[in-house]
Amino acid sequence: MTPPKPFAAPLHDGTLGALAQGYAWLPDRMRSVDGAVYRTRLLGRPAIAVRGPEAVRFFYDEGHVVRKEALPGPVLDTLFGHGAVQSLDGEAHRAREVLFPALLKDERGIADLDAHVRRRWREAAAAAARHGDPVVLFDEVAQVLALAVRDWAGLPLSDAETGELARDCTAMVDGFATPGLRHLRARRARTRQETALGALVDAVREEPPPAVGRPTVLEEVARHRDPDGTLLDPHTAVVELLNIVRPTIAIAWFVTFAAHALHRWPHHRGLLRADPTGVHAVAFAHEVRRFYPFAPFVGGLAARDLTWQGERIEEGAMVLLDLYGQNHDPDLWDHPYRFDPHRFAGAHRPPDRLVPQRGGDPALGHRCPGEDITVTLLATLVGELARLEYAVPDQDLTIPLSRVPTLPRSGLVLRLP
Ligand code: HEM
Repeated sequence: MTPPKPFAAPLHDGTLGALAQGYAWLPDRMRSVDGAVYRTRLLGRPAIAVRGPEAVRFFYDEGHVVRKEALPGPVLDTLFGHGAVQSLDGEAHRAREVLFPALLKDERGIADLDAHVRRRWREAAAAAARHGDPVVLFDEVAQVLALAVRDWAGLPLSDAETGELARDCTAMVDGFATPGLRHLRARRARTRQETALGALVDAVREEPPPAVGRPTVLEEVARHRDPDGTLLDPHTAVVELLNIVRPTIAIAWFVTFAAHALHRWPHHRGLLRADPTGVHAVAFAHEVRRFYPFAPFVGGLAARDLTWQGERIEEGAMVLLDLYGQNHDPDLWDHPYRFDPHRFAGAHRPPDRLVPQRGGDPALGHRCPGEDITVTLLATLVGELARLEYAVPDQDLTIPLSRVPTLPRSGLVLRLP
């Protein structure tokens, strides 16, 4: 057997390149090494980038890659929150992650959230048609999703407070990967919502559990206990509640991209209108998640000295999984830069190939437990958009790949007749 090549970390640091190039950074660099592993430094640490289904399985093996100390402070201060499930490993991670499947994978629960979303969307569309002014789709959808998740999760918030929740959750996502004003806004948004939702968690804990009826999502999170029987500390409970509310509102990014796709390839509107079972809407939702840029890559630290494809990775080096690059890898996708929902027409999907929300076994690694909710709500809103009559006035629809997260510059302005 050939011995692994020694880990030779380059001296240059890729952090500035990543900030400047955004989604294009890793795919560009991976191309320069012919799709094999790419070595760099990130935030001063040696780093190695990998991609492909095998790399997903390698990355998800807990004996290979760990999260502790991998997530930079600015990401925890804004996107995830300190103490979040995303930052845990091993037993601590397994103990915490059990909270999510019961809330996010239950078919009845998803259908219930979906019904809230549909109702709020139709109300918002009727209001926009009544007043006739142009609307920014991204902002409207974030509001719709915030109202729906508020009602579904049992958050006792007014409509005005829910409006603030929508703006704050999108700000947390918008500012996590960038220095400057957007980042400051994201920090303030997290502080504000941790305080506001913290009061709701405290209020639940002061009441005895209701004797009848299903507990709400808020109650489930507020009363969640670790395996040793202790309640989550109040701050962690709020962080995990926000881990459900924030990404549900963030589906607004994908819905805006879906409207962009309908505008560019309008023949899908007809296919979606003639789709009574919603099969094409689901395929369209998967293709939106594959094609458009949202999560660029994820990272962790090598738990010990490792070997990947004959190359040594030293303990403590950063391992990056190139999500956006993998979703556009010509070795995995036929014409990856062609928007084609038909590639998802069949029921069979090879595992660990489509990774907009990571891959791996949901019961093990840090895979997103909100994938079913995302696909369901996105497919519903794709269908609603396809049936809605609207015009897309002249505007800047460019999607800058250097911005993370990105959007059509205009936020996608629509005018309802
Ligand atoms: C809007 C589209 C979404 C995208 C692009 C997305 C993406 C991701 C990604 C990339 C991860 C892995 C993060 C990491 O490893 O650092 C993740 C984890 C997670 N996501 Fe999502 N997600 C989305 C929607 C949702 C929804 C709707 C929910 C809940 C309702 C959700 C809840 C979570 C949670 C709790 C984790 C942490 C899992 C763990 O560490 O064990 N996500 N998501």
